[in-house]
Amino acid sequence: MSMYHSRITGWGSYSPARILTNAELEGMVDTSDEWIVSRTGIRERHLAAADETTADMAVVACEKALARAEIDASEIDLIILATSTPDHLCPPSSSIIQHRLGATRAGAMSVVTGCTGFVYGLVTATQFIQTGAYKNILVVGSEKLSYAIDWEDRNTCVLFGDGAGAVVVSQSEQPGGMLSMLLGSDGSDWDALIVPGIGSASELTNEALARKEHKLRMDGQRVFKFAARTMIDSVTQVVVDAGMTLNDIQLVIPHQANQRIIDLAAKRLGIDQDKIVSNIARYGNTSAASIPLALCEALDDGRLKPGDRAVFVAFGAGLTNAACVWEFQPEHVEEQPILVTNWPVSEAFRERALQMKAAAWRAQVQARTMASDAAMSVMLPLYTFRKGVKKRLQELDLTQPNDES
Ligand code: UT7
Repeated sequence: MSMYHSRITGWGSYSPARILTNAELEGMVDTSDEWIVSRTGIRERHLAAADETTADMAVVACEKALARAEIDASEIDLIILATSTPDHLCPPSSSIIQHRLGATRAGAMSVVTGCTGFVYGLVTATQFIQTGAYKNILVVGSEKLSYAIDWEDRNTCVLFGDGAGAVVVSQSEQPGGMLSMLLGSDGSDWDALIVPGIGSASELTNEALARKEHKLRMDGQRVFKFAARTMIDSVTQVVVDAGMTLNDIQLVIPHQANQRIIDLAAKRLGIDQDKIVSNIARYGNTSAASIPLALCEALDDGRLKPGDRAVFVAFGAGLTNAACVWEFQPEHVEEQPILVTNWPVSEAFRERALQMKAAAWRAQVQARTMASDAAMSVMLPLYTFRKGVKKRLQELDLTQPNDES
């Protein structure tokens, strides 16, 4: 039983002014607005200025979060920066942020787990809070992915964007905050999302530069499959671990990588669209910044209210996955009415009832997943067969000039 609870007391985000639309991308690579919207849900993304860094964006988001929490930077004990695009390979950008904020008492560290970094950071922060070691921690996700993108590679350049989002996690005696969590990694797919040329594994020679090995490469389909699987498993796991079902959750805030991944997970989990936050159309995939950007919007718009519970769920490079259930404590606690009869037996019954409720929901999710897998195993061969026939006809030049189907 932990002594203290984590609580989000402040939040803030930053998006660079420059917006790159799908229409502009049409003039840069062989792509179309129709392809990007239908395959990803993205319509536009924000890009940092050439001289604007990951730390610059993080500092703005952190300052807003501190102002909202009404605390001074000197009261921060620890800064956790989640990023895959630091200003430099060394030193860690977290120390640049610490200095720029004037967080003179704070330790600073960087979490490099790809798009799951913010949730990894929240989990780490909560451990320090729950043990009573620290009182106030800044967790910030900030990314300048535009720097890592090969702007001639249509497989990646249409997907990503820049931005930052931060929260202040503070110590609270009021129950709530992180109720359950899950951190995962499947390193067997380590090369599915990679910047191959930067790091001690290789020398960035002129030849490597010419091959653009300092830029991001992605096997989209491998990541897609991992994402779909882990999103469903992770949400199920953390909700069950919190002793709940999805009926007890007001909002799911998933990593914003692809609207199709979000829709697939929602369908299989049986979650209504209005319970899911999606802002991918306006930001694209901002990696470790995507969940805090969406979280800040949900809090600012009043979609998340005190007392609500949310699931944060992410997947990304590594490959890694992470999720947690977070309860937003009410600002002021009402006096709880004292129960006249609070028999110990009713507590035991409640525990059992919660377990049964969770097991029933898990079975429901499994049944839905099996049904949809079965449908896929019929549809996929048909689709592949159709594609093969089309290709063969094209090779034999048997298609009609206007045959687009
Ligand atoms: O944050 C974690 C990191 N990333 C992810 O989570 C991404 C996960 N993966 C995805 O979201 C999807 O796999 C992508 C959006 C990256 C790609 O969608 P897809 O439906 O898996 O497309 P695909 O890779 O199977 O490509 C289908 C076709 C290919 O053409 P052919 O071979 O069928 O003729 C591609 O060359 O689409 C083509 N294509 C494009 N066409 C127009 C790929 N990129 C583009 C593009 N515009 N930008």
